[in-house]
Amino acid sequence: MTDKSANKMWGGRFEMSPDELMVRINASIGFDKALAPQDIRGSKAHAAMLAESGIISKSDAREIAKGLDQVAAEIEAGELQFSERLEDIHMNVEARLTEIIGPAAGRLHTARSRNDQVALDFRMYVRDVVDSFDTALAGLQHGLARKALEHAGVIMPGFTHLQPAQPVTFGHHLLAYVEMFGRDRTRFADARKRMNECPLGAAALAGTSFPIDRHMTAKALGFDRPTSNSLDSVSDRDFALETLAAATISAMHLSRLAEEIVIWMTPQFGFVRLSDKWTTGSSIMPQKRNPDAAELCRAKVGRIAGAFQGLTMVMKGLPLTYSKDMQEDKEQTFDALEAYAVAVAAMTGMIGDLEPVPERMRAVAGSGYSTATDLADWLVRTLKMPFREAHHVTGAIVKAAEKRGVDLPELPLAVMQGVEKRITNDVFSVLSVENSVKSRKSHGGTAPQNVVKMAKSWLKRLEKAGLPG
Ligand code: ARG
Repeated sequence: MTDKSANKMWGGRFEMSPDELMVRINASIGFDKALAPQDIRGSKAHAAMLAESGIISKSDAREIAKGLDQVAAEIEAGELQFSERLEDIHMNVEARLTEIIGPAAGRLHTARSRNDQVALDFRMYVRDVVDSFDTALAGLQHGLARKALEHAGVIMPGFTHLQPAQPVTFGHHLLAYVEMFGRDRTRFADARKRMNECPLGAAALAGTSFPIDRHMTAKALGFDRPTSNSLDSVSDRDFALETLAAATISAMHLSRLAEEIVIWMTPQFGFVRLSDKWTTGSSIMPQKRNPDAAELCRAKVGRIAGAFQGLTMVMKGLPLTYSKDMQEDKEQTFDALEAYAVAVAAMTGMIGDLEPVPERMRAVAGSGYSTATDLADWLVRTLKMPFREAHHVTGAIVKAAEKRGVDLPELPLAVMQGVEKRITNDVFSVLSVENSVKSRKSHGGTAPQNVVKMAKSWLKRLEKAGLPG
C-alpha cells in the first residue's frame, strides 16, 4: 500500500502509511494538547524573531502570528478537531495554520525542530504550574496562620510516638505546617530559577546555521537567558523532575496534615469538627461522618511520588539527545501536578472550615502526666538538682500518681515529699497545663504569646505579598 499522505510533515521519503498500532503508540495529542497555549506562544515568539533576524519576511511573520491567534481561539473554543495521525500538538497546530494561511505556514519551522519546540512548551507549562503552586501554597499558609492566631491559646496535647508528651497549643501545631509549606515554596522557587532558561533555538540537537537571535526569544518568553548547550537543551527534563520532587515533598506534608485531621476527627479523639462540606456519610451507617477529603489528600502523594519515580525511570539510561521515550514525560507529570493542585486547594478549604474542640483537647492534654517534664524542670531550677537526677525523682512521683490513679496536679504534696522531701507547695504552679505552655517561651516554643507573635508575623508577610488575593 502506498500512501504518501500518511504524514505531510515528515512523509517525504515514506512509501507506506503507518500501522494502526503505530499511530496509536506514537500519538501524544491525547494529552499534549494541554500544551497548546505554550506551543502557540512559543511559535509566535519564534516567528517574530525569524522576521527580526531577516530569516523570513515581515509579512510572512504577520500572517503567521495572525493565523496562530486564530488557531488559539479555535482550540480555546473547542472547535479544532485534533488528529491522531498528526501525532502531537505541534503538528496539529502547524497543519491547521497551513489550512488558514497557506504556504507561509511552512516557514514557521525554519531553524526549529519539534525537539526544541517540545522542550520549550513543556518547560513553559511546568513554569506556569509552579507559579500557580506558589500562589496556592501562600493561600494555604494564610489560612493556617489565621486559624493559628484565632486559637493561639487553645491547649492540646503534643505527641511523640502518638503518645501524649507535653501540652502545646493548637495554634503552635498549625504554625508547624506553615513552616513546612514555606519551605515547599522555596523548593519550587529554587527549581523555577534553574528551569528559567530557554531551549528554543537548539533545533534538533546541534543548533542551526540560520542567524537566529536566541536572546530575543528567551526574553520574549520570559526566560532569564537561553540555554547554553544545544544537546542538553533538547534532552533535559530536570525541570519536570525537580518540580515533581518538590511536589512529592510538599504532598508528603499535606499527607501528614491530612492524617492528623483524620485522627482528630475520630470520636475517640474528637479534637476537631469539620463541616458537611468536607465530609461524607455512609450509605448504611447513619451515624457516620467520614473525612473523605482528608483521606484523599493523604493519598495523593502516592501518584505524585509515583510520577517522580516514573519519570526518573523514563529518563535513566537515555543516551543524548532526544529519544521518543521522552514523550512519556508529559502524561504522568500533568496528572501528578493536577493531583497536587487539587490536594492543596482541598486542604485550604478544610483548614478554613476546621474548628477545634478545646474541651476535648484540654482533657487529653492534662492526662498522661503530660507536665512531668515541668516537674523535673522545677526540681532543677528550684532545688538545683542535676537534670538526670530530677528525671529519676519525677519518674518515682509519676509512679506514685499512677498507683493512686490521679494526675500530677491532684497528687498530695505529702506523697511528693515522700519521694523528695525538699519539694514545696510551689511545685503546683508548674503542674497545670496552662502554666506549662505559658512557660515555653524559648524561641520557637509553644507559649501562646510566641504563637500570637509568629502568626501575626506570617500574616503580615503573606499579606504584604498580596494575600488574600
Ligand atoms: N510529541 C513529541 C514529544 O512529546 C514531540 C517531539 C518529537 N520529536 C521527534 N524527534 N520525533 O516528545
